[in-house]
Amino acid sequence: MEQLIFRETSGPLPTSEYDFVVDGEKVGFLQIRHKLSHAPDVPFQMASHIYYEIIEEKRGQGYGARLLALALPEAKKLGLKEIIVTCLEENGI
Ligand SMILES: CC(C)(COP(=O)(O)OP(=O)(O)OC[C@H]1O[C@@H](n2cnc3c(N)ncnc32)[C@H](O)[C@@H]1OP(=O)(O)O)[C@@H](O)C(=O)NCCC(=O)NCCS
Repeated sequence: MEQLIFRETSGPLPTSEYDFVVDGEKVGFLQIRHKLSHAPDVPFQMASHIYYEIIEEKRGQGYGARLLALALPEAKKLGLKEIIVTCLEENGI
């Protein structure tokens, strides 16, 4: 079973955080920012509503896509109508 487990909403933005758990094992992490934003050390074009990651040894098996599919209805519940996700080219498998 795959599920997002809500952790907390915090910070000035604010940001909601979830663990992505598959059959009882945590394989990823999700942050939904309630407003488009970017980290101070990355350029404006990298602004994103969603940050997500899959633990390294679990990448390349479709988990990232499935996490994102679960994230979209959560974002909708938070009132977001459009989602922008950005990724640094060097991030990945
Ligand atoms: C990006 C990340 C979440 C992908 O997770 P994953 O579980 O390996 O992704 P999936 O196996 O679900 O792959 C989904 C699709 O993305 C593609 N993909 C995954 N990593 C990729 C990469 N580095 N470069 C290009 N394509 C990539 C896969 O080929 C797949 O495409 P397909 O559906 O056409 O076959 C993971 O590499 C990660 O945690 N990276 C570090 C953090 C990060 O960059 N997060 C995203 C920005 S917020």
